[in-house]
Amino acid sequence: MEENRVKKTRIVLVPVPAQGHVTPMMQLGKALHSKGFSITVVLTQYNRVSSSKDFSDFHFLTIPGSLTETDLKNLGPQNFVLKLNQICEASFKQCVGQVLHEQCNDDIACVVYDEYMYFSHAAVQEFQLPSVVFSTTSATAFVCRSVLSRVNAESLFLDMKDPETQDKVFPGLHPLRYKDLPTSAFGPLKSTLKVYSETVNTRTASAVIINSASCLESSSLAWLQQQLQVPVYPIGPLHIAASAPSSLLEEDRSCLEWLNKQKLGSVIYISLGSLALMETNDMLKMAWGLRNSNQPFLWVIRPGSIPGSEWTESLPEEFSKLVAERGYIVKWAPQMEVLRHPAVGGFWSHCGWNSTLESIGEGVPMICRPFTGDQKVNARYIETVWRIGVQLEGELDKGTLERTVKRMLVDEEGAEMRKRAIDLKEKLEASVRIGGSSCSSLDDFVNSL
Ligand code: UDX
Repeated sequence: MEENRVKKTRIVLVPVPAQGHVTPMMQLGKALHSKGFSITVVLTQYNRVSSSKDFSDFHFLTIPGSLTETDLKNLGPQNFVLKLNQICEASFKQCVGQVLHEQCNDDIACVVYDEYMYFSHAAVQEFQLPSVVFSTTSATAFVCRSVLSRVNAESLFLDMKDPETQDKVFPGLHPLRYKDLPTSAFGPLKSTLKVYSETVNTRTASAVIINSASCLESSSLAWLQQQLQVPVYPIGPLHIAASAPSSLLEEDRSCLEWLNKQKLGSVIYISLGSLALMETNDMLKMAWGLRNSNQPFLWVIRPGSIPGSEWTESLPEEFSKLVAERGYIVKWAPQMEVLRHPAVGGFWSHCGWNSTLESIGEGVPMICRPFTGDQKVNARYIETVWRIGVQLEGELDKGTLERTVKRMLVDEEGAEMRKRAIDLKEKLEASVRIGGSSCSSLDDFVNSL
């Protein structure tokens, strides 16, 4: 029934070629496809989604001459985004022209582009197409980017360097402190603010879609609704509304068998997402803290996440010994299945927005160790707004680490956090059901097209 609700028209999706952006964009594609739209996904030459059975009806196009994996390694994520936006403008116009030429009976209903793929604007303007911005981060992170894009970079830089100011709440962004602002570990503040001002500029877009839900961020969503000149549609969490596996790395499923052998709620799952890096020294302190906590742990160590090392070969022998007793290491895990596994009692996370939504969606409390950007905003919300986690701030210390793991998995405090996480999980599930706020928001968006 749902399939025939609207006349078949085409939606062109433009994701950022990075896991944390591709995943929600493909989920959005699946949600819109179920409403009767045809989907074209425009990819760069790097980080290509395989056309699995979930996307067998999707049409995939590649932007010619776009950047590659080597470019990402050489430039770093922030300059990569800036360069991508410089060089893709003309070639993306070609792609859209090609879609219009090939699909003359199937007009483009709109182009939905990731907020970081703002080069898309030139093509939609040239072909006079409706466009929509998709924000894959939290509404609060969007608010921060809007506020920061208007501040003076030099004075913010000085404030953030000042140890006394760092702990103060940033005016208008309570409960975020200066140190929680989404500055980047991948580039200077000035260039981060330049990227931010581009991402929050909605240009001629007719709406903003956000992968969030009003039960999580009602005041940030209200702020955006008031400040942006276009409707804002919170339609998440998309991984619950329209699950669509789109892992760019091979998942090691052996960890599920290992989890099957562990006690209920006893395991700490550790993953720092697709971009975060970790120094050898910190890895060692983590291994000591985890080992001393006496809890089993499943640790995702992504190849390339330890600077100067392909994988774990630069770690000392001591590390392997500490891990051997209770730990299990993989390069990449089927995260959703891991979080859903009854043996998992806590998630040590970098607090990427997808990981945050996925953890709440399974009612799993979190140990927060944000690395860059919006992850710091999410960590602050996890700890102080939703109260479903503990943030580890400053230098890592094996004693604090051991106590934190115990607080989460053994103590009453952890049980309370889990209760609140389960309560939020239920609210999120209700929001994507018929009549729920995110479900209605998606319908409103579809009707607006
Ligand atoms: C980054 C930002 O931190 C995030 O806030 C922003 O929204 C996108 O860019 P990333 O580092 O990739 O994202 O983290 P996250 O948003 O958590 O996304 C990671 C995705 O990879 C999740 O969907 C997670 O399920 C998946 N993953 C991670 C795996 O499938 N296996 C793993 O082992 C680790």
